[in-house]
Parts: sequence; structure tokens; C-alpha cells
Amino acid sequence: MATKAHLLQITRELRRYVEWQAKSGALGAPEAPVEEREAWQSRQKVRDDARMATMRAALVDEKPRQVAPPSQPARPITAASGEAPHRPETPVYERSAAPRAVDKADEAMPAPAPQMPATVAQDENALWKQLGSQSRRTFEPIEEPAVPRTPSRPAAAVRGAAMSAPEKLDFLKNYLANCQRCALHQGRTNVVFGAGSAVARLMFIGEGPSSQDDKLGEPFVGESGELLNRMIVAMGFKREEVYLTNMVKCRPLENRNPGSDEIQQCSTYLIKQIEAIDPEIIVTLGQSAAQTLLQSDEDLGQLRGRWYQWRLTPLMATYHPESLLRNESLKRAAWSDLQLVMARLAAK
Ligand code: URA
Repeated sequence: MATKAHLLQITRELRRYVEWQAKSGALGAPEAPVEEREAWQSRQKVRDDARMATMRAALVDEKPRQVAPPSQPARPITAASGEAPHRPETPVYERSAAPRAVDKADEAMPAPAPQMPATVAQDENALWKQLGSQSRRTFEPIEEPAVPRTPSRPAAAVRGAAMSAPEKLDFLKNYLANCQRCALHQGRTNVVFGAGSAVARLMFIGEGPSSQDDKLGEPFVGESGELLNRMIVAMGFKREEVYLTNMVKCRPLENRNPGSDEIQQCSTYLIKQIEAIDPEIIVTLGQSAAQTLLQSDEDLGQLRGRWYQWRLTPLMATYHPESLLRNESLKRAAWSDLQLVMARLAAK
């Protein structure tokens, strides 16, 4: 157990050590001559370019390109301009990285490294141990459990984390282009992925593409799509400001409703779409979309007109425009559902 006197003595010795460092010029680097600084900076630039090329290559799965040394030396920074410190600050992306091996160029830097007096070093280590911390001087390696490495695709993971909503949607759309998860792929002309803004506040989810949608590769382009467009405009949006998609992305033949297995197979893509867009409100159109997203077997008549949450996103279920075309009397109820949506959006 360290006594108070012992701790005071260590503090005094440490203070003396710091004063000694300051006096001997070990604290703060002395100003180097201009030519030396320029040479150092131009070496630094070559290293930085090489590091950036490696990072870029990792992000796009390319082999790092060989970076040629700059033909011009780096722009000189004079002491008078005060534009940059003698040793440029470590770039942010490197700060938390493990200390890298000193390379030749660094070795060339005049960097006097006076030794800490042995007694102080020992006592400091003892102090850290006493405090229950690992010695700051010895950096003893911490034994880590040998976790078998899962085969991973780090570059893809980095890309995923850094992707914007439109990039995520593009990625999904390309991924889906050859999907053969369910039998619906056999009858499709086009995968009908979705349409509208990738950063939409409002997302409409219908059931499945019609034959016209299938031909054009765009959802809600037929007669029911025109009615939906009018509903969207009445809500104060343009079609391209909201996002439209369906439970299934391929047309069910003979205009039948998609089967539960087909919905199930396609739900991964729908979930990824919702996650990418992260809308403020989801509106489901028709019974099958409402029942699937709400995991309910109640009729749409019971489900509509009330707020639910899909994960944390508010969800409103309403009638499908096709039903409204067939049964005009449902329009009033559908409009009152959409008014609830508008009020909620306005309140945000
Ligand atoms: N068109 C679509 O895109 N979805 C539907 O549910 C109906 C027609």
C-alpha cells in the first residue's frame, strides 16, 4: 500500500522529471529549417496519398494503385505564414488507430528522446499498478480470447454503413433484378421495385404490380395508380415526393392476390426498403398489406382508421385504390384515414 509520503515523493520526482524535460528541449519540437520541413512534408504527402489509395481501394474492392511520388515538392509553408504547424496534425481517421511502425521518413526527423529516469519510471509503474490500472509504460499485451474469424467482407460492410438511402435502394434494386425466390419470377416482365423519393416522409405499400406495372417496371401506373396519384396530390404531395412499393415485386398472374409464401419470400426486400427510406409514416393500401405488416387477421374494415406502429414507424391502414374504384362509397373513409396521416405529418 503506497503511503501518502510515498505518493508525494513520486509526484515531486515526476515534476522534476518534467522540468528536466522542458529544460533539455525534450518538450515541444524545436523549429526545423525550412528545407527540412518542406522535404518532410513532401514525404508526408507521398505517405498520405498511399494511405488514401489503400483506403479507397478497400472501399471499392480494388487493388491499391501504386502512388507515384509527387513531381513537385509539397507547397512550402513558411514559418512566417503560420499556415501549418511544423509537424502537421495527425489526420482524424488516424488518431484512434494503433500506433503505426515508424518508417524511414519519420526516422529522419530530429526527435531527441530523453529517457525517463529509471527510478521514476519504476515508481510510476508501481503507482499505476497500485491504482488498479495497467502500467502505462510497459504496455503489456492483453491476452485476448482466440475468437475464430468469421469469413467477412469488410469492404462491403464499410460500404453498407456509409451508403446513402438512394444508394441502398439502388443496391437492393440491382440485387433483386435476378431474384428467383418464388414462382412469381416466372411470369414477370420486369421486377417492379418501387418508385419515388428515397428520402420520402410518406411511404405507400400496395399488394403487387398489375400487368401494366409489370410492363413498365413501375408501381401504380394503371387506373388505380391514377387514383392514387390524385389522392397523393390531395394530401399536398407530388407522386415523386412520396415512395410507392408493394408487398411483392413481381406481378401475380391473372391479377390474383399474392400468396402468403410469396409475400413471405419478398418481405426481406420490403423490410430493407422501409429501413433505407425510414419514412415518417407508412400507409398500407388494401387488406393484404395491412394484415401482413400488422401481423393480424382482422378485416381491413377493423384495421383502418387507427394508428399502429411498424417497428417504431407510425402506420395507417386504408383501402386500396382499386377497391375505391369498385366501391365509391369507401372513398369517404379512405379520405378520413389520409386526413389523419396529413395531420400527423403536419404536427411533426
Ligand atoms: N399496382 C401496384 O403497384 N400495386 C397494387 O397493389 C396495385 C396496382
